[in-house]
Formats: sequence, C-alpha cells, structure tokens
Amino acid sequence: MGIVGAGPAGLLLGHLLHLNGIDSVVVENHSREHVIDRVRAGVLEQGTVDLLRAMGVGAGLQRTGLRHEGLYVSFQGLRHRIDLADLTAGKAITVYGQNEVVRDLIESRTATARPLYFEADHVAVSALDSSTPVLRFQHSGTDHEVHCDFVAGCDGFRGICRPSIPDGVLTVYERVYPFGWIGILADAAPTSDELIYTYHDRGFALFSMRSPKVTRLYVQVPPEEPIENWSDEGIWNEILARMTTRDGWQPNVGHIIQKAVVPLRSFVAAPMRYGRLFLAGDAAHIVPPTGAKGLNLAASDVLVLARALKAFYERGRTEWLAEYSDVCLRRVWKAQRFSWWMTSTLHRFPDATPFDYQRQIADLDYLTSSRAAMTSLAEQYVGLPMEVSYESAGLHV
Ligand code: FAD
Ligand code: PHB
Repeated sequence: MGIVGAGPAGLLLGHLLHLNGIDSVVVENHSREHVIDRVRAGVLEQGTVDLLRAMGVGAGLQRTGLRHEGLYVSFQGLRHRIDLADLTAGKAITVYGQNEVVRDLIESRTATARPLYFEADHVAVSALDSSTPVLRFQHSGTDHEVHCDFVAGCDGFRGICRPSIPDGVLTVYERVYPFGWIGILADAAPTSDELIYTYHDRGFALFSMRSPKVTRLYVQVPPEEPIENWSDEGIWNEILARMTTRDGWQPNVGHIIQKAVVPLRSFVAAPMRYGRLFLAGDAAHIVPPTGAKGLNLAASDVLVLARALKAFYERGRTEWLAEYSDVCLRRVWKAQRFSWWMTSTLHRFPDATPFDYQRQIADLDYLTSSRAAMTSLAEQYVGLPMEVSYESAGLHV
C-alpha cells in the first residue's frame, strides 16, 4: 500500500494496516519537525479516542488528554453550559493537540521499522486505473519507484493525489466563508475547564486550551486577513471585548507563543476513489473548524478503508473497496452539515440583515434552552457513530 502524507489520516491508516499485517510505505514531503509542530486540531470525538486507545496509541492521550463532559455557548454576555455527557449517555470529547496525536503515531510507526520517508521530493502517483499503481518520489537524492496494490491519498487539501485524478471524474461541492479565524496559543492558564463558543456583535470567538498552562483562542476576522495587521495587544483587545461575560469571566492574558490565520471552507470531492487511488481525510473533504470535525473524519475514513483492505487481502473481497466512498460520504456529509450549521449560527456575516441577526439570537436562545436542541448538538459534537466499528477492522481490544 502506498500512503501519501504523514498527517493524521496517513499515519493512522499506516498503523491500522500494520496491526493487520498489511505492508505500507508512507511518504511525506515535509520534515518530521514540521509535521509535529503544526498547530491545528484540538478536539477528539469519543470514537476517535476509543480508536486510538484500541490501536495501542493511547498512552499520551491517557496521560495528558483533557476529558471534557460539557461545553459553553456564550452570547449577549451570558455563558450557557451544554452537558455533553448527560445528553449522550456518558460520552465526552477529549482535548489533545493534533501535534501530540501525530507525534504518538510517528513514534509507533518508527517502532515498527516499517518505511516512513520525511522530506520526500517530487512525490507523484500514476497508473491509478491499473492493477499496479505507482508511487514515485525522491529521497536524499535517490529516486524511488514503488509498485503498489493500492494508493491512499492522505496528503491534505493541497496535496497531489486529488489533482492526479483525470478531469471530469470528481464532482466538487464547495462553500468558502466570508471570514477567517486568527488562532493563537498563549502562555496563560485556562480560566475555564471547558470550551466556550462565543457569538458577539463584533464576531465569533472561541476559547480552548492545550494544557493546564496553555490557552488556545480563536477570533473571527475578515477573509485572508494578513496576520501582520494584528499586534499581540490588538488580538487580546479583540478577544477580551468579545469573550468577557457579564459575570466578569474572561480569559487570562499571556505571552502569545504562536499565531496564524485560518481560512474557513466547506469542500467535498466525490467519489473518494478513482481506480486504485483512495482519498482520505482533508484530501477529499474540508470542514470549517467550528464543529471540530476534520481530524475525526480523517480517522473514520481510514477505518473504513482499513476494513476494506483487510477483507481484500484476507478473503479476496472487493465489495467493501467498492463501497468505500459511499460509506465515508454518509458520515462526511453529516459532519459537513453540522460544521456549516455551527459556523452559520455563531459568526457575523458581512451581508447579514437585522432580520438575520435576530434569527441568530433566537437560534442560540433556542439551542441553550431546549433539551432537544442541546441533545442534537451534543450527539453530533461528541461524534455520530462511525460507519464501521474498529473491531470489524480487525483490531483486537
Ligand atoms: P493533513 O493533516 O493536512 O495531512 C496531510 C499531510 O500530507 C501533511 O503532513 C502534508 O505535509 C502532506 N503532504 C501534502 N502534500 C504532499 C505531497 N505532495 N507529498 C507528500 N506529502 C504531502 N479537526 C478536528 O477534528 N478537531 C478540531 O478541533 C480541529 N481544529 C482545527 C483547527 C484548525 C485551526 C485547523 C486548521 C484545523 C482543525 N481541524 C480540526 C482539522 C484537522 O486539523 C484536519 O482535518 C486534519 O489535519 C486532517 O488530517 P489529514 O491527515 O487528512 O490532512
Ligand atoms: C482547538 O482547540 O484548537 C479547537 C477547539 C474547537 C474547535 C476548533 C479548534 O471547534
């Protein structure tokens, strides 16, 4: 199996295949440090946590992951708690940085001595509609050519696998939002034990964390906003203006360790397969981060793929490979819908009318006062069931 990309999708797939005795080569064009240091997701669904544990890569998660049984939605100066665990018969989310997930998976891969190439150049895939697709790359000046049974395109939104599919095969569904987020990591102890999603007249803001000493915060800004336009003081002023609640709650201010602008986009390319190339994770779909679903979808995709590959190698069955895209897309579209809804409900849109504003406030009022509405959010936020269980992917727990 050729796997392009050592992000969560590629590394998880590589490990699932390893556990099932299937050989793979993972090829990544960035350095190990770059892949680990990239600051991105923080929220793992219950099912993702269960999967990582079952795969034997849950030690770090167990040690430093922060289990959250609730979250807050804040608007008009008041915070409203949604009790995720109570509404979902005990499920929760875990805050554990994507960089930690990736670090854990790289360590596990390295321990298996199976091939994982960083800093590969000229990565290319070809002969995708043949029975032996080819993965080519250069590493430390040497040309490599791997003749694979299958290739997994786990190379993210800007990778080379999706563009290697001939024109006319894929249908693309896309929505680009008229705003982005500035995300910061701050040397400041979190002042809330749980995440806070804030709707404010000045725009959306989100309070999260990475550890008992590090706060993660996001604020809505115009699209493609240059980060240079924002001094640290300007960012803190905006965060405090949007997040301070009437009871005086506000985040602690501290030294900003890292800051970046993130665009918001919904995107699906279907089908997630062409010949013997299977797309997984962000290579096939992007969700705006408001629903915290991207990494979790990458995990559910590769579980479906691993199960199908196992059935192929053990029993010569191809039906699950054939169904791969349809099975994944059912869950992907539900996560798309949820992420779009969270984004639409919590952000200020530049063309919003006073009617839209009142409707948004009514939406939030309903959400935070109706048990039915809170249950709907909770079951989606902790994660809808995976389409296949990890036991059926051949894992022994
Ligand atoms: P990626 O992580 O993009 O990995 C792809 C890999 O392929 C990269 O390592 C890349 O370097 C490599 N690559 C690219 N091109 C090539 C090439 N030509 N050759 C070889 N390798 C290549 N998701 C959640 O579930 N919860 C959250 O809380 C959450 N928060 C987020 C917050 C932010 C600010 C952002 C930006 C995203 C967030 N996400 C969240 C989404 C999540 O980070 C992504 O969905 C996730 O990284 C997808 O994993 P992936 O492996 O599919 O893609
Ligand atoms: C994060 O902690 O980085 C995070 C949390 C929730 C989101 C997105 C990102 O919706």
